[in-house]
Amino acid sequence: MATVLYLYFLVGLCVHLAFTVSPYSTYIYTPEKRTILPVSVHNINGTCDGAASLTSPPGAAQFGPASAVTYDFGKNVAGIVSFNVTSVAGTDEYIGISFSESSLWINSEGCDATADAGLDVALWWKVAANSLYTAAKEFQRGGFRYLNVYHNTSGTVTLEGLSIFFTAIPQKPESEMRSYTGYFHSNDEQLNRVWYAGAYTNQMCTIDAQAGDSLVHLGTVMSNESISGATITWYNNYTVANGTSVLVDGAKRDRLVWPGDIAISGPSTFVSTNDMDAIKNGLDSLLLLQNSSGALPYAGVPFAELGLGFSFTYHLYSLIDIHDYYLYTGDIDYLSRNWAAFKLALEYSLSFIDSTGLQYVTKPNDWLRFGMGGHNIEANAILYYTLNLGIKLARILNDNSVPSKYSSAASGIKTAANRLLWDPKMNLYRDNDTEPLTSLHPQDGNSWAIVAGLTESTAQSINISDALKARWGPYGAPAPEAGATVSPFISGFELQAHYLAGRPQYAVQLMKTMWADFMLDDPRMTNSTFIEGYSTNGDLHYAPYTNDPRISHAHGWATGPTSTLTFHAAGLQITGAAGSSWSISPNLGGLIEVEAGYQTTLGSFSVKVNSGKNGGMSIEFNTPANTSGVLSVAYPAAGGTLTIKNKSSKAKDIVVSMEPGGSGRVEVDGLAGGEYTATLSVD
Ligand SMILES: *[C@@H]1O[C@H](CO)[C@@H](O)[C@H](O)[C@H]1NC(C)=O
Ligand SMILES: *[C@@H]1O[C@H](CO)[C@@H](O)[C@H](O)[C@H]1NC(C)=O
Ligand SMILES: *[C@@H]1O[C@H](CO)[C@@H](O)[C@H](O)[C@H]1NC(C)=O
Ligand SMILES: *[C@@H]1O[C@H](CO)[C@@H](O)[C@H](O)[C@H]1NC(C)=O
Ligand SMILES: *[C@@H]1O[C@H](CO)[C@@H](O)[C@H](O)[C@H]1NC(C)=O
Ligand SMILES: *[C@@H]1O[C@H](CO)[C@@H](O)[C@H](O)[C@H]1NC(C)=O
Ligand SMILES: *[C@@H]1O[C@H](CO)[C@@H](O)[C@H](O)[C@H]1NC(C)=O
Ligand SMILES: *[C@@H]1O[C@H](CO)[C@@H](O)[C@H](O)[C@H]1NC(C)=O
Ligand SMILES: *[C@@H]1O[C@H](CO)[C@@H](O)[C@H](O)[C@H]1NC(C)=O
Ligand SMILES: *[C@@H]1O[C@H](CO)[C@@H](O)[C@H](O)[C@H]1NC(C)=O
Ligand SMILES: *[C@@H]1O[C@H](CO)[C@@H](O)[C@H](O)[C@H]1NC(C)=O
Ligand SMILES: *[C@@H]1O[C@H](CO)[C@@H](O)[C@H](O)[C@H]1NC(C)=O
Repeated sequence: MATVLYLYFLVGLCVHLAFTVSPYSTYIYTPEKRTILPVSVHNINGTCDGAASLTSPPGAAQFGPASAVTYDFGKNVAGIVSFNVTSVAGTDEYIGISFSESSLWINSEGCDATADAGLDVALWWKVAANSLYTAAKEFQRGGFRYLNVYHNTSGTVTLEGLSIFFTAIPQKPESEMRSYTGYFHSNDEQLNRVWYAGAYTNQMCTIDAQAGDSLVHLGTVMSNESISGATITWYNNYTVANGTSVLVDGAKRDRLVWPGDIAISGPSTFVSTNDMDAIKNGLDSLLLLQNSSGALPYAGVPFAELGLGFSFTYHLYSLIDIHDYYLYTGDIDYLSRNWAAFKLALEYSLSFIDSTGLQYVTKPNDWLRFGMGGHNIEANAILYYTLNLGIKLARILNDNSVPSKYSSAASGIKTAANRLLWDPKMNLYRDNDTEPLTSLHPQDGNSWAIVAGLTESTAQSINISDALKARWGPYGAPAPEAGATVSPFISGFELQAHYLAGRPQYAVQLMKTMWADFMLDDPRMTNSTFIEGYSTNGDLHYAPYTNDPRISHAHGWATGPTSTLTFHAAGLQITGAAGSSWSISPNLGGLIEVEAGYQTTLGSFSVKVNSGKNGGMSIEFNTPANTSGVLSVAYPAAGGTLTIKNKSSKAKDIVVSMEPGGSGRVEVDGLAGGEYTATLSVD
């Protein structure tokens, strides 16, 4: 009897910690099974009898002479293709398979692209009756919604059981692929879809660590070449990290560890699936490449081996990623183990601060924006932010050797950035102070200035938020520092900036128009994962590339809304290791109802917010025992009352009265972990 109880307890505990079933699992895009079939026929060329039968197993499709069928999986997927050939009429019969993420690049010769020019080759088999054909592991395709089956010869071939073995999130048993640890829901269906598409995008970018893109043509196929036909070879069998899985930039490409991307994909992974090992494996691969001067690589292997240079910003993003990994996991051993590397890296950045107080950037490498150099505002805002993280981590580790140094460097950057780079006429920071002064006011540096806390007042942050919004076009927020580009990566930081500036309604609007109306619902998209970049006029052209079919349609850096909706709309944030401290700071921004939850090793965190009269709201929240935190709400200009009830005790309610005319936020701190309901009533 005792044994039985004990086992029951263990099982119960395990289920509780690892996989609470998400209350909104119908929104999850992740397949239930690793074996997946197309859901419909997109197009038939030539003659194919029974083409649609392959959408349910086993089906039988008879391909006539010179025929081709395009299948639609209904969403972006990844994997290894298989099919059975049951009969063949003819002597020399071939079947080819190719893939495309966007309907734009469905092609009669091959796939969309991974190289700087040309199209990727199709996979071909000379076929015989009663045989099973499965692509080799290195020919797993990382992202596609459309799959073409070609029959190029004069006989007929009957094909059955066309399927894909789903290769993303290789660390997950099939039964746990949809076991998210986090959830989100609101009254806005577009935002609900956006949150879950972001989560799925990051799952698509979580790959077998031994299946990175081998980059066979990097540096040999140049972007200015014109290549006819689908002749570019490709394979995904490069070991980009140790361990089972790794979070990379994109599903189709580059399938590489890029530290900048993780600054967005990492937090969005945390709030949805909490697959932290895939992040750690990637960060470890970067840390191994740090040189004795402290420089960290622009990207992981094999890119790093090509010596393509150092990036001032991506170097710092690795440090931000290390901080975030520690924050989400509470893994103090990991932090201690890498603290010397962190300090050495930050020291390297500090060595580029000149007499102005700003870091002087000498290498152009960044997120493929143009004009990165000199006293660049983005690079300096990121350095300011990272120095403050360094101070926080040093205090956690009781290292007194660095905080005063970091803090004086940080205040020097803040003073100099506002003196030399602020343009009061535009209410934005200039890109840099190189003479003659540039008229370019970048999206990256201005968003980052707010995120980093580089602005000197709330009024200044509001002015930046308004000025950024004033530039929006029909397809989203522009990034003029990358040409006529919309960057879903930098726009992720812009979303955070609007929330932090107290303009949540702008963030809500941008997520709906840019991420839902365009990035999900435009028919050229996958309607399930988020694209890397596009043009301000809505063309699927991304200025840094000449080869449009190369653009990735599942790029983790485009998943900013997932963490932003949880952290800022629902306001569910952890501020100390694994949530030992937390903050509940909802910002409805016009939404009527928002709910979010997630788990850490300390337990479950959740919040549910409903709007009330005159901008008031009711907030239910729940945090684990032995933690503590803060409740924060925007101060209602008309005045009001905040009442906090502790559901788990008979303790007296906390009541905060607010006179009319106040501004900023009202915070109640020192709340012990537990179950609360709070009401903000506005006069
Ligand atoms: C089918 O034919 C159209 C028109 O020629 C072409 O654009 C398309 O790429 C073809 N599809 C396949 C899978 O060959
Ligand atoms: C069909 O494609 C295969 C593989 O590319 C090729 O070897 C064969 O010559 C092609 N046959 C015809 C008739 O085009
Ligand atoms: C292919 O045929 C084999 C043998 O008939 C069968 O075991 C297998 O399930 C089939 N595979 C697919 C993908 O239909
Ligand atoms: C393409 O660019 C490379 C340098 O990036 C240059 O050497 C080459 O001549 C260019 N080729 C063409 C066809 O313009
Ligand atoms: C990767 O796959 C290609 C194509 O099959 C092969 O030539 C190459 O040797 C493989 N590389 C590794 C590291 O396995
Ligand atoms: C895997 O770990 C070994 C031992 O630390 C290291 O030499 C190797 O570079 C690592 N591989 C990658 C891809 O990081
Ligand atoms: C480390 O890398 C940086 C950036 O690429 C380079 O400037 C520096 O010389 C390297 N230091 C050493 C000791 O190799
Ligand atoms: C300053 O910014 C402008 C606009 O981005 C750019 O053209 C210029 O090259 C930058 N200056 C330096 C030194 O990089
Ligand atoms: C914000 O913009 C307004 C309007 O241009 C201006 O009057 C005000 O001084 C600005 N405030 C700050 C702090 O930049
Ligand atoms: C995208 O998917 C949603 C369901 O998630 C569906 O309602 C919508 O019609 C789809 N949009 C397009 C353009 O396919
Ligand atoms: C909370 O902390 C106390 C004292 O350290 C400990 O006895 C108790 O088990 C902890 N509770 C939880 C749920 O961790
Ligand atoms: C809320 O109740 C819990 C459980 O009784 C208690 O530990 C905690 O201190 C209370 N918090 C406040 C702010 O009263």
